[in-house]
Amino acid sequence: MSYVKQVEHTPKPDFTRPLDFLALGVFKDKGLQPGHQAVDGALDGLLGKVIERGDFKGKKGDSLVLFTGGPLARVALVGLGETSKFTTEVARLAAGNAVGLAIKHNQPGCALLGFETELPAEELTQAMVEGLILGSYRFQDYKKPEKDDKVLDQLALYGPAESDSLVRGNITATAVCFARDLQNHPANIMTPTRIAEAAEEIARSPRMSCRVFDREQFTKLGMGALAGVALGANQPPKFIIMEYKGGPQGAAPVALVGKGLTFDSGGISIKPADRMDEMKFDMSGAATVLGIMRVLAELQPAINVVAAIPSTENMSGGSAQRPGDIVTAYNGKTIEVLNTDAEGRLILADALSYVVDRHKPVAIIDFATLTGAVLIAIGHRATGIMGNNEDLLADVQRASATTGERVWELPLWEEYSEDIKSKVADIKNIGMARLAGTIAGGVFLKEFVGETPWVHLDIAGTAWQDKDQPYTPGGGSGVAVRMVTQLILDRCS
Ligand code: BES
Ligand code: MN
Ligand code: ZN
Repeated sequence: MSYVKQVEHTPKPDFTRPLDFLALGVFKDKGLQPGHQAVDGALDGLLGKVIERGDFKGKKGDSLVLFTGGPLARVALVGLGETSKFTTEVARLAAGNAVGLAIKHNQPGCALLGFETELPAEELTQAMVEGLILGSYRFQDYKKPEKDDKVLDQLALYGPAESDSLVRGNITATAVCFARDLQNHPANIMTPTRIAEAAEEIARSPRMSCRVFDREQFTKLGMGALAGVALGANQPPKFIIMEYKGGPQGAAPVALVGKGLTFDSGGISIKPADRMDEMKFDMSGAATVLGIMRVLAELQPAINVVAAIPSTENMSGGSAQRPGDIVTAYNGKTIEVLNTDAEGRLILADALSYVVDRHKPVAIIDFATLTGAVLIAIGHRATGIMGNNEDLLADVQRASATTGERVWELPLWEEYSEDIKSKVADIKNIGMARLAGTIAGGVFLKEFVGETPWVHLDIAGTAWQDKDQPYTPGGGSGVAVRMVTQLILDRCS
């Protein structure tokens, strides 16, 4: 774990005092801003000259580090692009870029100069705080540092900032980093037991509780689909339920369900060896759910939420489930397992039907690295969403627009349900070969939510990133923690 958990706020910075690293945003079409004046003064007009002479044009994504030789030792300019195209996402990216530069220059801290725009101050503050913390994340638990490596451990926002948003930004971004950690640990460490322990630890907070079912217990409850996937597992499988009761007693909760597959070898329908290591990220849905629960634990909002995490490995071997096996899910539906690698939908089938039956939620949101097909369709840049309720889908889209985590809806027209009909069981766990694979996953899950409003997030493309991005280093991304936290908090107001 390496990330800074809190951005400090310095409303009235004194730029004549020694400072290692200060970053400031520059718009392409605005030149030196009033907020820049104090910095420019401390640098004897250097900043103004650099901008006026066009050495730094403020293009979005561009940056320039000035070594001043003075007490204000390094000043990083980060481009904000055109004023008319400025959004909170641009601010988040710029803040992420700023921290990235500080880390690259082996600095112990990064201060970012806040500024005012047409955007609401709360949104801008939260975005900058998020960009700073998320950009400070590096996963280096297993790598010994080089001798002169400094760990960046201070982040600060200078100048204008809104204090409630500062707190909310700190808490949500820290929860995203926490989710990234869960994702990034390998499968020999991040076992179902460890995931259950993480849940239990979060649930020590007020108004929260956690219950963990082991193999015997969830099998007895009727979770035949989870039990089937878990047949080949070496690590003990778990079914985890968390409840947060911040709302009125008896008010129906929002349900969050996350795929907690700690390693997906494909099972008997084994995956190719190439990049199979990435299947340690197959518990990303669980990580997202735990990240959101952590925010709720800290913010204690007035709402009821239930979380369900089915967690197991999907392994091959003598005791593993076979292609052709027929299992019975919690809701009584029989499933023909034609491909043991389509295991995510199996474990979610039990989790979804369990929460519907036992918790009668007003809405369900599930998170799963469910299909490789979603990567083929929309790549790493957006989460595929599907659902049975327009209003809930719109809620997700609205939250997505706020947090900058892109979503793209795929249809679940009823004709697609034909594709998962089985000759020998109620349904089968795969659709048509090579066709609409993500939708096939969606219509399968739909069989287990009944009439409850539900949205499925296929995060197989967004849960981890190959390339470093300004506030998302390569590896686990903690996707959808911010988005669904936003959605839940919107429901409270
Ligand atoms: N965990 C995988 C999906 C996945 C693939 C996530 C690539 C991230 C990157 C899932 O369990 C899976 O194996 N899905 C199969 C379904 C198929 C057998 C119908 C897939 O996508 O190939
Ligand atoms: Mn699989
Ligand atoms: Zn999987």
